[in-house]
Amino acid sequence: MKVFNSAAELQAYITTERTAGRTVGFVPTMGALHAGHISLVKRALQECDRCVVSVFVNPTQFNDPKDLATYPRTFEADALLLAEAGADAVFHPSVEEVYPERDERIFEVGRVAEVMEGAHRPGHFNGVMQVVSRLFDIVRPDKAFFGDKDFQQIAVVRAMVRLIGSPVQIVDCPIVREADGLALSSRNVRLTPEQRSIAPNIYRTLRESLDFAKEHTPKETELWVINQLNAIEQLRVEYYEIVDADSLERVESWQDSLRIQGCITVFCGEVRLIDNIAYK
Ligand code: PAF
Repeated sequence: MKVFNSAAELQAYITTERTAGRTVGFVPTMGALHAGHISLVKRALQECDRCVVSVFVNPTQFNDPKDLATYPRTFEADALLLAEAGADAVFHPSVEEVYPERDERIFEVGRVAEVMEGAHRPGHFNGVMQVVSRLFDIVRPDKAFFGDKDFQQIAVVRAMVRLIGSPVQIVDCPIVREADGLALSSRNVRLTPEQRSIAPNIYRTLRESLDFAKEHTPKETELWVINQLNAIEQLRVEYYEIVDADSLERVESWQDSLRIQGCITVFCGEVRLIDNIAYK
């Protein structure tokens, strides 16, 4: 596996691959890799001839400086996992390499970036769009692979791709979960053993809400999930919204839309966890 710190060197490698007629799949990450990321690499290798992974903790998407400072950085271990998974190249740039100048771009993609995570983490999605568009410019992949755990992020990236007219095909991949249902996340390592045993209640409650929803409205179902989880010590729901899976508009009734998703953010102690579930 090749490791590149320089964008120009990565581009030279990709140009050689393309000239030989090979397609390029891209998995953007912030490192601290786990089996969820590796599933994206495997999918990229199934669908493309080459798989390029970026490991870059993007400062522009952190609205909380403490969160940026404490974000786990484990490049040696990440590189080992990627080599083992069969990735062809990893891009591990400095901040200056990605942003030679301060990125002042504002991406106007509307509501998809304003609701839920957008409302609770101001500026977060603009930072995600800055870095993803910048990485797409460098890598110029045929396809880019994102995990469904960040359900809203995928909607935002798709909207950004439409806005800038990028030819990159966005591929969404299923959430990978622990045996007890907890969605894999780089943040899970921050949970204390007690919190780790409590956190699976999030997905358990989401699953139980599928039954509750059969007899109740989306609004009632949202409230039921929030109350169930808030009743558990150490859990505090930031939001739970049941939305149209494409527009992310809240639905009033189960008939409002063909694809309906529930998206949740819960604090487990100090650790902010997100998850989601499909109602239809
Ligand atoms: O999902 C992530 O890890 C990040 O938001 C991404 C897409 C790598 C951009 O920094």
